[in-house]
Amino acid sequence: MSKPIPPLAPGALPFLGHALSFRNGRDQLLQHGYDTCGPVFALKLATQNVAVLVGPEYSKIFFQETDRSLSMVEPYQFLRESFGDVAFLVGPEYYKQTRSVLHEPFKRHKMTQYLAVMQERTQVWLDTLGETGEIELVAAVTQLVQDIAGSALMGRKFQEQVGDEFWPLYEAISLALDPMLPAHWPLPKFKRRDRARAKLEALLRPMLAERRQNPDAYDDFMQELLNARDTTGQPLDDEHVIPLLLGLLFAGHETTAGQAAWTIVELLRHPEYAQRVQQEVDAVLPYQGELNMERLAQMEHIEWAVREVERVRPSADMVFRYVTTPLEVGDYVVPAGWLVQTSSLLTHNLPEVFANPEQFDPLRYAPDRAEDKKHRFGLIGFGGGIHRCTGMNFANMEMSVITALLWQQFEVELVTQDTHVAQGMGANRPSATIVRYRRRPAPVGELVGAGAATAAGCPYH
Ligand code: HEM
Repeated sequence: MSKPIPPLAPGALPFLGHALSFRNGRDQLLQHGYDTCGPVFALKLATQNVAVLVGPEYSKIFFQETDRSLSMVEPYQFLRESFGDVAFLVGPEYYKQTRSVLHEPFKRHKMTQYLAVMQERTQVWLDTLGETGEIELVAAVTQLVQDIAGSALMGRKFQEQVGDEFWPLYEAISLALDPMLPAHWPLPKFKRRDRARAKLEALLRPMLAERRQNPDAYDDFMQELLNARDTTGQPLDDEHVIPLLLGLLFAGHETTAGQAAWTIVELLRHPEYAQRVQQEVDAVLPYQGELNMERLAQMEHIEWAVREVERVRPSADMVFRYVTTPLEVGDYVVPAGWLVQTSSLLTHNLPEVFANPEQFDPLRYAPDRAEDKKHRFGLIGFGGGIHRCTGMNFANMEMSVITALLWQQFEVELVTQDTHVAQGMGANRPSATIVRYRRRPAPVGELVGAGAATAAGCPYH
């Protein structure tokens, strides 16, 4: 006897199904579906059926069946309309041919170079803050992450080469991302997207041409992409490099901005753990000391905090596939033509996967507990399987660098107390959050004259 389709979550409206609640509060909708139906259930988004899978066992099927009975092409068509033919958006054959190009710039030896850029751009930001003040953290971190993405991925001279025009154009593309509307409809936001994309291409083409003529003059991420060869031994042409660059910029900054800002907010909400971070920073990164790979590797409390934020505040919570061949999942079968979605947030909150999941507890990643190692598909904020995020190490390093340098140089406190998740169609981030900061004074021995006298009387010493 054939298995039944997954049970429908309660609350589906005629015609619209769950589309409105999915758009306006998908966390609650998914939680309710799980509470009432269990780890495999169905949603109806207007005419589209979606099977939601929760937990490591089902996430494993999701990630391992990708490019077999599950396809990434259909659900991410909206990304392809915006960026063009980027590796996994085209199909498994093209993906296999170009996967090496996607991975080349993230090879281990390149990370030292990115660390230098991350440190430099973060320091430029910190230097603008002055001695004391208040800022809206999420906007500030988003701008910083954009700056890092621009400098690390597109080259240090990128910002001056493209001028102020680039990011507003890029934003017109980001704002038009909408998985629920056909991306070719003649809506104003889609028209703005198409105009912006044409202008961005016009900005990038001369840069690429110049680099192809002088490949030895550059040693950065963009040049790695231009130098890399696919499995046929060919480099990618502009028609493929431009979509890849635009796609990587998107993948690289929206998601990272959210989790980087959450890392700071969650540390400020948990002062006892933040104190461990402070002690670690003081021990490893002395006053005016520079970060390097060795020092970064010693900052395990920061690394665990960043990982805990991936668990409790995953930016990319909407990971979809299209079913091309009926898929058995536990007691159910998901028919061809359905979408399938994993829920990282629900999976990350299962007590059988993470102990006391409601607690922000970065020590769960310490070697004696290692809760993230218990299930291969338990922590899936960066996806899993063959398509797991290629930028994961880059993003984790970036979040650690921002946190380490901020804690090295400033004391920060939350003014906004009710920060919550602001869901976007591209990535989630915290709602606007004001923080108050004060530059940490130099240790007494580092100052001379009047400065030393002030520091000696300072309540922070
Ligand atoms: C906190 C930051 C980030 C998060 C949460 C994140 C999350 C994800 C997730 C969940 C996937 C899998 C999507 C799927 O299976 O459908 C993915 C894939 C990907 N990400 Fe990230 N990402 C982050 C940062 C970055 C960065 C910095 C880059 C590049 C600069 C990047 C590039 C990519 C690429 C190229 C893929 C597709 C990989 C493939 O298909 O083989 N991501 N990311």
